[in-house]
Amino acid sequence: MSVQPETRRITVPEIRAHKHARPVVCLTCYHAHTARLLDPHVDLMLVGDSLGMVMHGLETTLGVTLEMMISHGKAVMRGSRRALVAVDMPFSSYEESPAIAFRNAARLIQETGATAVKLEGGARMGETIRYLTERGVPVIGHIGLTPQSVHVTGGFKTRGRTEAEWPALIADARAVAEAGAFAVVLEGIAEPLAARITAEIEIPTIGIGASSACDGQILVMEDMLGLNPHPPRFVREYANLGPAIEAAVKAYAADVRERRFPGAENVYPMKQARP
Ligand code: KIV
Repeated sequence: MSVQPETRRITVPEIRAHKHARPVVCLTCYHAHTARLLDPHVDLMLVGDSLGMVMHGLETTLGVTLEMMISHGKAVMRGSRRALVAVDMPFSSYEESPAIAFRNAARLIQETGATAVKLEGGARMGETIRYLTERGVPVIGHIGLTPQSVHVTGGFKTRGRTEAEWPALIADARAVAEAGAFAVVLEGIAEPLAARITAEIEIPTIGIGASSACDGQILVMEDMLGLNPHPPRFVREYANLGPAIEAAVKAYAADVRERRFPGAENVYPMKQARP
């Protein structure tokens, strides 16, 4: 009997082949039910460390742990069968040395079953990205606005709005690609620079608040569903679920208070006693 699942997941070379072709459709995802809904429609689901802010109410992503990423990564894998799933390496799990990064990336992949990891940083992470990819860990890079550096940069600021910043960011993108990453997230990068990086490097760029010229796009799912009361300015809301959830909860609360709640007796009627 075959132990192969009915559908196979999208692979790293398949994502790689989107360069200059059909844009890669990506969304963040943190839990099983939403993974099931997203799975037929996206190429890549990212279990982003933004889950610390979105799911756990943290101020920044810095408090996210490997255990949190593993727990949400497992849930997303259980809910999906087709999309490639990548899991973020949280702050302090990879910066110290390539060997520590490998140990923690291996845990993320072994314990969740996900295909790839993502880590923040450009040229400074080149050695680590090479170390991981040479040892079988597919890596997505992440440059530009890197939320794990929020205390160094002083906020979530767009990068590349002056041309003086461009050479360093272009060097970051090149370093990530040359080190073996199979894609790179360009977050909060000025439009003409993101377009230029996309034209110049060999791997797909996945934009968020960057440029529609990127080889793919990603959004935080809760932002595009209207669940974030203060979404970033570049986010297009495709649904407005916040008010819809509030209205549903209000209606439920009224039913409970007025004893209009449909009781189990309507679903499981009493059986007649046998004569
Ligand atoms: O953590 C995250 O959700 C991310 C995306 C915004 C790219 O890194």
